[in-house]
Amino acid sequence: MAASPTLNLAARVVRTALAGTPADVALREALTQDRHYTAPQQRREVSRAVFTYFRWWRWLDSEDSWQKQITAALALQARFDREPASIKSETLAIRAMPEWLKDEIDTLPIGWLQQLQREPALWIRAKSGTGAALAEKLGHCTPAPQSSDGLRYTGITDLHRTKEFQAGEFEIQDLASQLVSLACAPRPGETWWDACAGEGGKTMHLSDLMQNKGLLWASDRSLRRLAKLRERAARAKVFNFRSAPWEGGAKLPTKTKFDGILLDAPCSGSGTWQRNPHARWTTQLKDVHELAAVQAQLLNHVAGSLKPGGRLIYAVCTLTRAETTAVAAAFTAAHSELEPVSAQTIWPHELNANGMFIAVWRRK
Ligand SMILES: C[S@@+](CC[C@H](N)C(=O)[O-])C[C@H]1O[C@@H](n2cnc3c(N)ncnc32)[C@H](O)[C@@H]1O
Repeated sequence: MAASPTLNLAARVVRTALAGTPADVALREALTQDRHYTAPQQRREVSRAVFTYFRWWRWLDSEDSWQKQITAALALQARFDREPASIKSETLAIRAMPEWLKDEIDTLPIGWLQQLQREPALWIRAKSGTGAALAEKLGHCTPAPQSSDGLRYTGITDLHRTKEFQAGEFEIQDLASQLVSLACAPRPGETWWDACAGEGGKTMHLSDLMQNKGLLWASDRSLRRLAKLRERAARAKVFNFRSAPWEGGAKLPTKTKFDGILLDAPCSGSGTWQRNPHARWTTQLKDVHELAAVQAQLLNHVAGSLKPGGRLIYAVCTLTRAETTAVAAAFTAAHSELEPVSAQTIWPHELNANGMFIAVWRRK
């Protein structure tokens, strides 16, 4: 860690997070308030210190000062990056995960445990067919084996400030999320519903795959997120969508029947714990069960809106049994009008990205 003001600010953020504010929110607020930390390099150092602290939280001595704990976490990170074998898999199984996860995952892959202790990769998504050209323009890009438009960016430029981003040539989007829209494989001219569209990460990808042709409904319970979606869509020049609020109940935003529906459901997010290590320690088993009930309800509500032959894609960025295979199995059992097509668990260490579960059904 270069300067102690950086360490002090990181310590302040850690304290705020431990008092109950999610670390990413506490970080954003602190960086906005503290004018000394506007330089991208300093912002990166503070963010890195905070997330490294939570990544190594179970290794730290809580009697030490915050600054000393953060310094110890950064040293552990450096050692692990250099020598992953320096930390035994049994130790990782105990310290890198909350206890309750063992009830939800039969065998914790060692690759995932190790992945959780690394800094996450930054993925971007170029507009369809432009990955190679974008990589050339931005530099420091490596294409994903799964998609030439998915690029891992290893440079240090603030991508939001690049002219390519301003012109809507790419989005910052995790590779696992990109694979969800690719699994949807919508065709130009079709009618799709992105039922939990949030800020529109997948809406924009779906539209791109549809070549901006056809119609895409984007709904969410959060009006704030839908407003952000419209803003992002304008920058990305996405025009073939209609946004509408939907609380997730039986009253749907439209009577339209769809060629495809994506339900990117709210979930416990265990697949994102590498990116958001604080959430490992705040998410509880009861959240998993409550969310599984919401997911089941949302699936039941959207299922009737498929055309015959239409496809339903269920995605969650979590790996717990209750929210993945159990939700899918119960839904299949209750809906004989739909046939299961595929179900896939993507582990973070397989992609160097978030974990994801994707299940697909087709209406008979
Ligand atoms: C995983 S996020 C969606 C992310 C988004 N699809 C994307 O790619 O950027 C889940 C979304 O579901 C929404 N949500 C949560 N509960 C809901 C409900 N009961 N009905 C509708 N949307 C809900 C949340 O507001 C959140 O935006």
